[in-house]
Amino acid sequence: MDQSAALRRISPSPTLAITARTMELKRAGIDVIGLGAGEPDFDTPDHVKEAGIAAIRDGRTKYTAVDGTPELKAAIVAKFARDNRLTYAADQITVNVGGKHTLFNAMVATLDAGDEVVIPAPYWVSYPDVVQFAGGVPVIVPAGPDQDYKLSPQGLDDAITPRTKWVILNSPSNPTGAGYTADELRGLGEVIRRHPHVWVFADDMYEHITYDGFVFATIAEVCPDLYERTLTVNGCSKAYAMTGWRIGFAGGASWLIKAMAKLQSQSTSNPCSIAQAAAVAALTGDQSFLADRAAAFQRRRDLVVAALNQAPGLHCPTPEGAFYVYPSIAGVIGKATPGGRIIDTDEAFAAYLLDEARVAVVQGAAFGLSPAMRISYATSDALLTEACARIGAACMALR
Ligand SMILES: Cc1ncc(COP(=O)(O)O)c(C=O)c1O
Repeated sequence: MDQSAALRRISPSPTLAITARTMELKRAGIDVIGLGAGEPDFDTPDHVKEAGIAAIRDGRTKYTAVDGTPELKAAIVAKFARDNRLTYAADQITVNVGGKHTLFNAMVATLDAGDEVVIPAPYWVSYPDVVQFAGGVPVIVPAGPDQDYKLSPQGLDDAITPRTKWVILNSPSNPTGAGYTADELRGLGEVIRRHPHVWVFADDMYEHITYDGFVFATIAEVCPDLYERTLTVNGCSKAYAMTGWRIGFAGGASWLIKAMAKLQSQSTSNPCSIAQAAAVAALTGDQSFLADRAAAFQRRRDLVVAALNQAPGLHCPTPEGAFYVYPSIAGVIGKATPGGRIIDTDEAFAAYLLDEARVAVVQGAAFGLSPAMRISYATSDALLTEACARIGAACMALR
């Protein structure tokens, strides 16, 4: 038996692969610092854990409605109203097994062979693969450091064709941390408005992790006329440090929400009932710790940006949010390692850092824009300081 054609179109997630490799090295007793993982090092808040435990004790351990319990949908409706000034009814809300599952459902439910999806690069690794799995064609639009890693209205306009079904916007971004201001979203909205067949997948997963007073905005909020054709996507993974609980959600047109539920009814069925109960506590409970955690991430961002900009050959922009930096490594390309290996790609540089400096990062190639690397700074100040010192020394050792 062979793999299906659909499966052959995709690759395993490169970021999960690097996390697995880091864990393997650690198990083998090697002192490697992992800066590859895309999850907060903070713990799930206690009141959220307690809500999960209570759900188990109360016997809320059975099937639920396929795309979310009424309680969780009500909490999500309230969240969109509170945080984003967006009004959704319960039948416009879907709950899925993580934000990745929301993406999967939306693409598989809407794409026919050859349909195009505009994806600015650098992008979250799953976008192109999920689009390809669904039979669609990713249309990658470079948005490099020269444009602060943001898609320009012109770049978007040039990428749209009669086959375009979706444009994916992710703010703040994985992997660059770049965030779109309300005005920048309005500029993109002007283009989308002129192409009524194009829908927006607004991935707001890092909404609550922003810095320096950056004001988060989402496109359905700032361009109300695009509300009908926007799927506003969010989840519990990053804000509430709940990556393992697997709860993602979205608000959008009721026919699309229904279509996604139809697919989910024949695949995962409901997200875990216990995780859903915990998500209600996360979304309806005290939100004040979000700002404290963002402040902690901001300190780490500042530490990492300053240290990396000292390393010869690296240039690290200062991001508006998320917990990643995406330094350009153009200045080390063409140099030789002490062992005589030439750093000809960002993959070679990431391999050098892992083998010689014992720091795990993800090469820019995985995110569609080279030469660069993604560093996740969701780890302790002490480890970050040590990791940056190792990277700095590794850069100094290049000739
Ligand atoms: C931009 C973005 N969107 C969505 C997700 C999905 O998160 P999860 O499936 O863990 O909820 C991630 C996770 O890395 C992400 O970085």
